[in-house]
Amino acid sequence: MEKEDNYRLLAQQVESLLEGEDNTTGQLANAAALIHEALGTWWTGFYLVKDEVLQLGPFQGPVACYSIKRGRGVCGTAWQENRTIVVPDVELFPGHIACSSLSRSEIVVPLRDQEGSVIGVLDIDSRDLAAFDEVDARGLEAVARAIEQHAFKH
Ligand code: SME
Repeated sequence: MEKEDNYRLLAQQVESLLEGEDNTTGQLANAAALIHEALGTWWTGFYLVKDEVLQLGPFQGPVACYSIKRGRGVCGTAWQENRTIVVPDVELFPGHIACSSLSRSEIVVPLRDQEGSVIGVLDIDSRDLAAFDEVDARGLEAVARAIEQHAFKH
């Protein structure tokens, strides 16, 4: 249960960090910093839907590509299919976009508006193979709900 408990705590921490602020960029930057430090991951950040593409948002980690088309890479696929995608080995994901050659596994969680449309994604990369599983998926979905609630509905 330890991992589930850690994610419950992380979702609460994200909520406390974001609530009451009305600066989406700053809130996403702080959320990326908190998640990155809590999970000890390689790249942690956001891509936001703008002008029909996913555009790079606040993140922690090495430099990343600026835009991703719908249906492209893990992020664009999570957007198109409106679901969390866990990739245990990025080399086995067709069309994976390698922003950093050191990334070995990845998880992408959609962020949605009140109607359920995807407004962006939370993307987390690890240098370890198979770093993320279903517990991470459910835990990060709870974190994403807190981010939708507090960083977008101003
Ligand atoms: N690997 C992602 C691209 C973003 S970087 O990992 C930061 C993808 O395939 O969508």
